[in-house]
Amino acid sequence: MAQDNIESTLHEDRHFPPSTDFLKTASLSADKLNTLYEQAKNDNQVFWADQARSEMDWQTPFTTTLDSSNAPFYRWFPDGKLNVSYNCLDRQLKDNADKTAIIFEGDQGDVQYISYRQLHARVCIFANTLKAQGITKGDRVIIYMPMIAEAVIAMQACARIGAIHSVVFGGFSASSLKDRIEDTQAKLVITADGGHRGGRIIELKSTTDSALESGCDSVEAVIVFKRTGHDISMQSGRDVWWSDAEQNQSSDCEPVWVEATHPLFLLYTSGSTGKPKGIQHSTGGYLLNAITTMRWVFDIQDSDVFWCTADVGWITGHTYVAYGPLATGATIVIFEGVPTYPDAGRFWDMCERHAVTIFYTAPTAIRALIKQGDDIPNSYDLSKLRLLGTVGEPINPEAWMWYHNVIGKQRCPIVDTWWQTETGAHMIAPIPAVTITKPGSCTRALPGIDAAVVNEQGEEITTANQGGYLVMRQPWPSMIQTVWGDDQRYKDTYWPMFDGKYYLAGDSARRDEEGFFWIMGRIDDVLNVSGHRLGTMEIESALVANPLVAEAAVVGKPHEIKGEAVFAYVVLKGERPAGGIDDELTQQLRAWVGDQIGAIAKPDDIRYADNLPKTRSGKIMRRLLRTIAKGEEITQDTSTLENESILPQLQGKV
Ligand code: PRX
Repeated sequence: MAQDNIESTLHEDRHFPPSTDFLKTASLSADKLNTLYEQAKNDNQVFWADQARSEMDWQTPFTTTLDSSNAPFYRWFPDGKLNVSYNCLDRQLKDNADKTAIIFEGDQGDVQYISYRQLHARVCIFANTLKAQGITKGDRVIIYMPMIAEAVIAMQACARIGAIHSVVFGGFSASSLKDRIEDTQAKLVITADGGHRGGRIIELKSTTDSALESGCDSVEAVIVFKRTGHDISMQSGRDVWWSDAEQNQSSDCEPVWVEATHPLFLLYTSGSTGKPKGIQHSTGGYLLNAITTMRWVFDIQDSDVFWCTADVGWITGHTYVAYGPLATGATIVIFEGVPTYPDAGRFWDMCERHAVTIFYTAPTAIRALIKQGDDIPNSYDLSKLRLLGTVGEPINPEAWMWYHNVIGKQRCPIVDTWWQTETGAHMIAPIPAVTITKPGSCTRALPGIDAAVVNEQGEEITTANQGGYLVMRQPWPSMIQTVWGDDQRYKDTYWPMFDGKYYLAGDSARRDEEGFFWIMGRIDDVLNVSGHRLGTMEIESALVANPLVAEAAVVGKPHEIKGEAVFAYVVLKGERPAGGIDDELTQQLRAWVGDQIGAIAKPDDIRYADNLPKTRSGKIMRRLLRTIAKGEEITQDTSTLENESILPQLQGKV
């Protein structure tokens, strides 16, 4: 790790207090929030124990709040028993049974409404189906589905019987699917014939067949949901249609009460190196923070229509689609398709038609839609929206401003939520009725969360705006439990510093004069230019602040004198120019970065492309960009790129 602190170069002074419109109905006031902070400060464990008792139904109440005897393998509420599906569904049956739980919209525009009563029945039927397939508590089940209601039904059904699900994003290849099946030793795969995405069919069953061709001996059966109806092959003795498997199953299914520490799911994250890690989450602690953050950060209320656009293949689709909103009795929107099909108005059209009140998406989607111009969102009625959110990467201040002005009409607070697959739920985020937000900052740690920025020695950095390592100094309920099957990797990756006392998030961050957090990027991405350590986020934000620029990614390229030089990839709002260092636009953008940040951050090179290379979860593939900047041969897997034709553009060949 590098020796020096990370310098901050981003200057952002704009402040946005919550609008009076929002305050009229918001539930968490400044006074109540202060009480929560006070309680958490007085006794963190008592605070979480109180929350756990009031927010969840326990079949066996816990008597121990936190067992730290085998740290960093923390065990929350270890002697309590509960069931997640019961907490999400059965609890709604008394007063809310006929309320819509899910509004599903398919890629092709087909819409379904599912009430809590119907959802409960469908989950119970499918849970009984799983039992009939021989699935019991602790068995692993792979879910490889399109973004349809049945994906959530499958997850909830697993939770109901204590089976551990691992959802694999439908865009992943056969070999990724196979790796996950083998690592989990899953007994069952739940998939579909295919899914619809942007007018095309995504082959899910045939990809599953390829994954299962060799190895994967643990798999005994494959349940196939019929979504597209196109031709697929079924292997007799192994494959069964969902509807056939469900025949004659009862809609009563007693939940299996599990220990709070029983794994609810495994979710694989791919880091920049090594094989994907199976992040293991608990039942009780995980659900608790899914619920508390729905209340504190999303201010969820009975009348809300909540739309988190994430796929269930990511943690966001677990916590804020499949679990948190249902456990708080919300109505959610589930969407199978993409934001640009049939046109770039799809999100806004759906917000209008389904009267969405809370909208949560990723900066990458926002930037893609900015590129399409303001006329599109301006032609829809977005007046029902009351709260907006973002997640997944730092949002550039200019993208934040667009979201605020064009989508939120200056009326909707924006919650910029910092968290990770490993943290299970939001950790640093605004409280919408209280926090005065600043574009690009995820603001303050939530009650009960002890986030800090420290130096290499683990000492807190108290100088404003000096960057360092983002850490958590206390365990929290929804924290990762371990890496599936690899306790050592869990310890090495997340607790390597400070005698294993602090959770290392792997992000660099700074705090401003008011103590607000600003995420500067992943530690691995920090550039070192002439001895100055610069986060990628700030240079990218400076570029995006130029009116011509839609998106930017910055990486370091080895440089004889400076150590590293800044290398920028830029997507313009208009036509892609040929580029070249003497090109007028390139000079203009270099000068712009010089003005915004300082000469040190001026890119040595700028390449223009129609798009940036992204992972399936929308994160920029920086390792690939570094390889290209160095002029090295590409060895990374680029088969998952939506648009492979951008590679020669990034390489400057066309
Ligand atoms: O670098 C941070 C970035 O995304 C990482 C976590 O990625 P993942 O596990 O895929 O989970 C994404 C959804 C929670 C973090 O380490 N990140 C996430 N949210 C933000 C963010 N960076 C800045 N601001 C955010 N709001």
